[in-house]
Amino acid sequence: MNKPVILTGIRANGELHLGNFLGAILPMIELQKKYAGEYQLNMFVPDLHSFTTPIEHDKLYLQIVQNLRKYVAAGLNLDDEDTYIYRQSYVAAHSELTVILNNFVYYGELQRMTQFKEKSDGEKDTSISAGLYDYPVLMAADILLYGAEWVPVGEDQRQHIELTRDVAMRINNKFGENLLVVPAEWKKQLEFIGRDNGIRIRSLRNPTKKMSKSVEDPAGTILLSDEPAAAAKKIMSATTDSVGVIHYDMENQPGISNLLRILALLIGEPIEVVTKTWEGKTRYGDLKTAVANEVKVFLTSFQKKLDNVEEAELMRKLEASEFLMRDVALQRLYKVQQAIGLRP
Ligand code: TYM
Repeated sequence: MNKPVILTGIRANGELHLGNFLGAILPMIELQKKYAGEYQLNMFVPDLHSFTTPIEHDKLYLQIVQNLRKYVAAGLNLDDEDTYIYRQSYVAAHSELTVILNNFVYYGELQRMTQFKEKSDGEKDTSISAGLYDYPVLMAADILLYGAEWVPVGEDQRQHIELTRDVAMRINNKFGENLLVVPAEWKKQLEFIGRDNGIRIRSLRNPTKKMSKSVEDPAGTILLSDEPAAAAKKIMSATTDSVGVIHYDMENQPGISNLLRILALLIGEPIEVVTKTWEGKTRYGDLKTAVANEVKVFLTSFQKKLDNVEEAELMRKLEASEFLMRDVALQRLYKVQQAIGLRP
């Protein structure tokens, strides 16, 4: 297990959507294919991260297993010996390292996190949980425990990756340069997944906002469980603009640009190629139809694969991975405990 590590986690506190798929799942699957044999791939469910937004607790366990099935339906190859799938709460070292890291991350740093600011905005102090505030530290522990240099995530997680780098460098400065692997900086992360910009899929209804699991925006979000024809309809009624000509311009034409991006990612073409085909055209309806068709094809095939996922095989892989990752994580935790004086 000495290969460089690629790692990502996707929360299970709601249905997965097209933003999750294009921003994190698809890059992981592409990397698994591209680097087979060369890299270790950790694709886990950060289940302890589920409670920072309201959830239905009695559905959580099933949701977690359902999400793991979705990784497989999306194309994750479970036979790959360098690939590990696991649940965060089944590897106790995540929580232990978080408690330690909390002492090397500052109040002001966590208060500046955009996601924290957005989620706590307008809430009373008495209803903002310490879990929401501390969430990026648990995420840093998730990454640092496995020495992951590469962390494919959507643009909304960029700040958390940067915080993880800062914490790792801070701890290394104090306790020894080789203690923690510092994840690569954001620009290099993008180069690694072969994208020139961070991936941020916007809401179809309100394209200045990101597509999210939020229940307030069902028409703006394509769930991976949406009926394909219904998803196509959401694309057809996506908010655009009154410019009347197609340009790839996120600033002034975010709705149209979002559709161009979705199309490019779904057909696996660079955005420049897709833009060239559509630039200057005036019939927004034609672009919407093209995107709607791709979404329909994608969802139909994805959902068929989801029905056929072999759950027994999945559970075997999951438990075997958790068994191994407990050991890997404990070794790194021990090194940290030693460095900070908790162990001889
Ligand atoms: P989460 O569960 O909110 O989202 C999972 C992944 O999906 C990406 N994503 C998007 N990408 C593009 N456009 C969107 N509209 C969009 N919405 C979501 C996210 O960027 C993410 O990559 N904190 C993380 C989970 C996490 C994690 C980790 C990730 C916990 N520990 C360690 C990497 C490494 C989160 O809440 O993602």
